Amino acid sequence: MTEIIDGNAVAQDVRDGLADAIDALDDEGVTPSLATVLMSDDPASETYVSMKQQDCEEVGIEAIDIEIDPDAPAEELFDTIDELNADDDVNGILVQMPVPDHVDDREVLRRIDPAKDVDGFHPENVGRLVAGNARYKPCTPHGIQKLLADAGVETEGADAVVVGRSDIVGKPMANLLLQKAEGGNATVTVCHSRTDDLAAKTRQADIVVAAAGVPEMITGDMLSAGTAVIDVGINRVDADTEKGYELVGDVDFESAKESAGAITPVPGGVGPMTRAMLLWNTVKAAGLQED
Ligand code: GUN
Repeated sequence: MTEIIDGNAVAQDVRDGLADAIDALDDEGVTPSLATVLMSDDPASETYVSMKQQDCEEVGIEAIDIEIDPDAPAEELFDTIDELNADDDVNGILVQMPVPDHVDDREVLRRIDPAKDVDGFHPENVGRLVAGNARYKPCTPHGIQKLLADAGVETEGADAVVVGRSDIVGKPMANLLLQKAEGGNATVTVCHSRTDDLAAKTRQADIVVAAAGVPEMITGDMLSAGTAVIDVGINRVDADTEKGYELVGDVDFESAKESAGAITPVPGGVGPMTRAMLLWNTVKAAGLQED
């Protein structure tokens, strides 16, 4: 039987686990806090940020909501980051990506104090992750590690194929699977848009992480029996629904589940875990800053 991995349930376990850490901080008079900065009027980004704030409030993390006009000069965002860096009451800072074209996104990531960079995107934190000494693991790959562990998928010695090479998911996922650590020790292949014969790579995989942003590109015939399939995609495709679209993953769920040993659905798989791990990193930030 194919196991359908329930990301909502595992995310709830993570949140339950955080409650103790939040209580312990509370006993010492500390309430973890996360500042979210939105410089966009993209409806999807607005939704993501408001969900992150709601998550914070539900577990007892203070959410600080900052919105910047997308037409404002880049300096306004940089000044805001500087103020948040200097504010001892702020433990975590998240600038929702993408920022407008006139803002240098690399400068945004560099500007955030690495100690408050709960996304794990600052070059210092990227370097630490690659060196096997992560401070904040990026939320999506960290959440995927937890999903695999919860589903009993052994990474040690496994052939893992990561499809997609983004800085947010593909590259850190590959690094985590490669680490000499729990949830790592896999043999990792990273595939992308220029990969020759993708299906030959995915067919030899024990674990496939699909994070290319291409709707339903991984189909059942590209998988061997028993593969663990993790779908990171959230793609809007035109559909005859009230909103005029539906959300589909990078995996063709119906055909893939015939081959897969375990598979994450979209929605309800990776998405809730990404959100839960942001809370995790924020609580970790509060603990580190208290020391
Ligand atoms: N935009 C899409 N995913 C993310 C994320 O994980 N963090 C931030 N800051 N922006 C994003």
